Amino acid sequence: MEEQIRRMQQEIEAAAAPITDSKEMYLLRKQYLDNKTGKITALMKNMRDLSPEERPAFGKIVNELKQWALEFFTAQDARLKAEELARKNAAEQIDVTMPAARQQHGALHPNTLIVNELIDIFVGMGFTLFEGPEIENDYYNFTALNTPADHPARDMQDTFYITEDLLLRTQTSAGQIRVMENAQPPIKILSPGKVFRSDDDATHSPMFSQMEGLVVDKGITLCDLQGMLDVFAQRIFGQDVRTRLRPSYFPFIEPSVEVDVSCFACGGKGCRLCKDTGWIEVLGAGMVNRHVLENCGVDPDVYTGFTFGMGVERIAMLKYGIPNIKLLFESDVRVLEQFRD
Ligand code: DAH
Repeated sequence: MEEQIRRMQQEIEAAAAPITDSKEMYLLRKQYLDNKTGKITALMKNMRDLSPEERPAFGKIVNELKQWALEFFTAQDARLKAEELARKNAAEQIDVTMPAARQQHGALHPNTLIVNELIDIFVGMGFTLFEGPEIENDYYNFTALNTPADHPARDMQDTFYITEDLLLRTQTSAGQIRVMENAQPPIKILSPGKVFRSDDDATHSPMFSQMEGLVVDKGITLCDLQGMLDVFAQRIFGQDVRTRLRPSYFPFIEPSVEVDVSCFACGGKGCRLCKDTGWIEVLGAGMVNRHVLENCGVDPDVYTGFTFGMGVERIAMLKYGIPNIKLLFESDVRVLEQFRD
């Protein structure tokens, strides 16, 4: 009998040894200690088959076995639960020195950054926004801007015509006419928008963006224009840049100038960006031609005005060092995510 009991004890220890899970250990415990089906419980029931003399000794050994088994399983349960907790903690451990998971977030397009910056600068000087239509008629895009049908300056811009009279505007300058037709001076507007030309290479695209400015009032001079352009150039390209005006030709402007900024990459000494000249051309500008004022019902003997017009992509390419205008239209996120101002 004692032999049987010792074997059961060994049997329990052998069955428990490979168990690593507290639920499995509980099932093993039930096999021996369950009140109805447990193997130790069954031994107790066997007592009935023994003679009254044998019963006390047997009862004592079975009780000891039961006591041992209870303690054994309680200890096993505590050990396994502790191990399980340790495993869980290890799995959930956070290394606070790890770099945080990178979050993808969008960025504004470089063109939008430049347009926003320009609007900030000029609205700060008292300009208000005007947006003209992208489909214009010949009159607003050319004729009223002192460029009638037979004018050679029409060849400066390759135009997409829709009908003989309708076209995709080639310049935001068309908006100047719409503004002056509808308001008497003082006028101070900024006009951003898309323009279209049949032109396509590394620095030209059939669709691009311009920013136009127009100021008309009594006593406006070229000096006012240059003073304002200095502020613009320094805000966009850096405090140290200077501007210079070079004579140029636009039919709706007299005198016409090209505006250069001193090279912000080399400080004017000469480098690849400024093609060793120390200067970079950034926009066209000048005084509103008196014919244009007349065309719009503004008296050129009372009022004068200046205008300027710039290519937004060109400013973005210069400022951010973008070598090809196509990079601004291909929507490649590897390019675009580099611009976070
Ligand atoms: N509209 C001209 C162009 O697209 C640019 C321009 C030049 C605009 C001089 C102006 C200006 O307002 O004054 O080539």
